Amino acid sequence: MIGRRAFLGSTLALAACDRFAAAEPTPADDLPPLKIAPFPIGACARSNHPDDPAWRALALRNLDQITAEWEMKMEAIVGDDGTLSFTGADKLAAFARDNDLRLHGHALIWYSQDNPFFRGLPEARFGAEYDGYIAAVAGRYRGQAVSWDVVNEPISEDGSGLRDCLWSQRLGQDGYMIRAFEQTRAADPDAVLFLNDYNLENLPAKGATFLKTVERLLKAGAPIGGIGTQSHLDIEIPAGQIRDWMRDAGSLGLPIHVSELDASLRRDGPVDLRTPAQRREQQVARVRELAEAFMALPERQRFDFSVWGLRDTDSWLREGERDDGKDSPLPFDAAGRPNPMAGAMVNAFS
Ligand code: XIL
Repeated sequence: MIGRRAFLGSTLALAACDRFAAAEPTPADDLPPLKIAPFPIGACARSNHPDDPAWRALALRNLDQITAEWEMKMEAIVGDDGTLSFTGADKLAAFARDNDLRLHGHALIWYSQDNPFFRGLPEARFGAEYDGYIAAVAGRYRGQAVSWDVVNEPISEDGSGLRDCLWSQRLGQDGYMIRAFEQTRAADPDAVLFLNDYNLENLPAKGATFLKTVERLLKAGAPIGGIGTQSHLDIEIPAGQIRDWMRDAGSLGLPIHVSELDASLRRDGPVDLRTPAQRREQQVARVRELAEAFMALPERQRFDFSVWGLRDTDSWLREGERDDGKDSPLPFDAAGRPNPMAGAMVNAFS
């Protein structure tokens, strides 16, 4: 008898498995897709990702939008001699087009990405080359890119002011930003143009400086169309801080882009005595707070909610020397099964 019951049980389990597998080819199939949300859901992508059938299935099931993780940055596009190359960027744009995904452009001007070509330019040519770069890149995806991060990470690390960089030295602190927004507007009049930065919820002083900067640039005529908040979350911040940031950001009335969400379980510094389960709980609580705060924005301000990678093993936090082999900062595990934070997002967005 025992043998027969066990056999029946396993037959039923197999049948269930088969049915399940046929209906949902990806392993992350218990949970409704992230794109159940009433606004677009995005993730960053590299041009070789779509060649991986597991990534592709996960992306098509969950996403409405992609952002190039690095192939639309200056480091990928501009050679040392100033020549431009769009191989990876075009491949990503084609993947988005062929699969009806929105394309978010990232990032035109970034303090951390200058280039020997630009550094070597004489004063007299600098402005024209700067304008030409923006025209070439934003113009190439005109009509396809729904949006661009025009200036990335302009606020200083401690949030007290603006970063000093090649662009600010040559074109002025606010000048380089205003010019970048104007040039992008000219190259692609329909794209929504973002100022994008990180630690805006983690460091309230930085969030405040960021918002003041947006207001000042708008007054000066920069066609800023939205606020990009990267949301590389620090899971140690107090409850309520993310909600307060989102409320303050929303008060300007502009669309908000959660542009690069991830939430590392790691803590640098003192020995961490918490169990993995406690850290996970803290992570999920902060992601839930972010998702709920975004949901609470007026509909017209919910531009998109993007994660900085789908599977933990896709994360930049798991690259090279930074990889401790354990961090789990993203919605899906290495096998594409949903992590608890994916559940928190779906619940908040349903
Ligand atoms: C990171 C990418 O994930 C890495 O693969 C790359 O080498 C460096 O940049 N803020 C940003 C993103 O705006 O462009 C960064 O992406 C992560 C921090």
